[in-house]
Amino acid sequence: MQTRVRAAVFPVAGRGTRFLPATKASPKEMLPIVDKPLIQYAVEEAIAAGAEKLVFITGSSKRAIEDHFDSDAELESALTKAGKHDLVKLIRDIVPEGVTCIYIRQGEPLGLGHAVLCARPAVGDEPFYVHLADDLIDGDPPCLKQMAAEYARHGGSVIAVETVPANETSSYGIVAIDTANDNRITQIVEKPAPADAPSNLAVVGRYLLDPAIFDKLQHTGRGAGGEIQLTDAIADLLSDKPVHAYAFSGDRYDCGSKIGYLKATVAYGLQHPETGEEFRAHLKDLLG
Ligand code: UTP
Repeated sequence: MQTRVRAAVFPVAGRGTRFLPATKASPKEMLPIVDKPLIQYAVEEAIAAGAEKLVFITGSSKRAIEDHFDSDAELESALTKAGKHDLVKLIRDIVPEGVTCIYIRQGEPLGLGHAVLCARPAVGDEPFYVHLADDLIDGDPPCLKQMAAEYARHGGSVIAVETVPANETSSYGIVAIDTANDNRITQIVEKPAPADAPSNLAVVGRYLLDPAIFDKLQHTGRGAGGEIQLTDAIADLLSDKPVHAYAFSGDRYDCGSKIGYLKATVAYGLQHPETGEEFRAHLKDLLG
């Protein structure tokens, strides 16, 4: 079994309709939480979990993501001239030495499953992470690193899950698990109505997948919402290879929704060394 996971896939080709008009011309993954865009939190989490090949599946209006991870000689030289060496380091360190960024265009937003399949030529025949940047997880260790440790224990694929209220199952992929067998997933269903849901354990935006998923995706037809669903390919994989559910520790914020984004901004604003104290005092004043 290969123990190190080297590739991380970031599907960023969705249109972000829940966040219009902000996402009309700018990627939702570039929305900042305090001073860093969501996609940078994502990349930092993947690198902390050992990833060195970052594969972005992009679509229209996503150029800003490539620019963010590219060097900017003009900006660096202006900051150097101004003596702002700490800021030069800050922007140079966005992509550390030894880490490669690869961009693959998803011609049409045919769904998350299709986006993951687009990564195949860059990932090859190795286990890989899939990270959905709009699911921001504040975890220590970071969520993907927790999952890498779980993978080192039993191999297979590992999918992050969280318990959700029963009336929210229709917003998630929902799993049934065998707790006597390392939480192996026995069933996975995309967005079931509460009455049809096998549990209230919901899949969130972190996956560590066996490359066998690519063959499954190749044959996955359109599912819920007319999209090629990653959930359907995982359902197909269950009978061939072990897929484990992992209940991560940490706080998750659905930053693809307005309320989740606001909650994340408050939580991270309160933690940030530059803003925390003043922001806390301001919130106290505001709320009386
Ligand atoms: P979402 O379901 O959040 O869709 O996609 P979305 O388009 O980004 O946002 P809304 O619901 O319209 O507001 C889950 C993840 O899959 C990616 C998205 O970028 C997001 O990270 N995705 C989705 C793709 O990369 N390609 C697709 O065709 C669909």
